[in-house]
Amino acid sequence: MIVTIDGPAGAGKSSISRQLAEALGFAFLDTGAMYRAVALLGLRAEIDWADTDRLVELTQTATINLTGSAVFLNGEDVTQDIRTQRVTQATRYAANNVGVREQLVKMQRAIAAGQDIVTEGRDQGTLVFPKAECKIYLTASPEERARRRVSDLAARGESVEFQQILEQQSTRDEEDQRREVGPLRKAANAIEVLTDGMTPEEVLQKLIKIVGRCQHA
Ligand code: DC
Repeated sequence: MIVTIDGPAGAGKSSISRQLAEALGFAFLDTGAMYRAVALLGLRAEIDWADTDRLVELTQTATINLTGSAVFLNGEDVTQDIRTQRVTQATRYAANNVGVREQLVKMQRAIAAGQDIVTEGRDQGTLVFPKAECKIYLTASPEERARRRVSDLAARGESVEFQQILEQQSTRDEEDQRREVGPLRKAANAIEVLTDGMTPEEVLQKLIKIVGRCQHA
């Protein structure tokens, strides 16, 4: 069974999706981490972002491994490095690159093949797994999402202004929705969950119920 969870940045998707996978005994795939890893590759190679073919080449020759909650890039643990503001900002170059998306989508389908999985991102229910048995669209208001982002970054020792995060988030939302390939969209048959005012535990319980209903459908 494939459970897709899509939604905008900062909706709390990553941690809740991971917990959902654990609760169900399913594998978990954080596809945003893959785009972040490619951005980190580009930053480290100091590539010219206008050279989109170069980033595709780098992606083709790289090994990205998602094991448990860790992310390995060419064998190196980059779990922390891919969450910095610098990488978050550069991830647009990976996400907007058609060739990079093709590569990553292929990898995502290969990872999901033959196992029960919760897969989380922007285009999982629409483009990557259109036949998924259970599709969830997880979202929250822009202010709530920005507040969560600020506290996540603070917990990692990065201090940022709320207003700045809100503005960056709104730019990312627009880019996510306007992208020609793999834009953020709610799949027609996805169940939308608005998490404003809900605790993470409440969201988790709600998602477990939704998946239970999908399993018995
Ligand atoms: O969910 P996240 O913030 O870790 O995602 C990082 C970036 O990757 C975000 O700008 C959107 C992009 N992304 C994407 O284009 N497609 C996906 N399936 C997942 C993430």
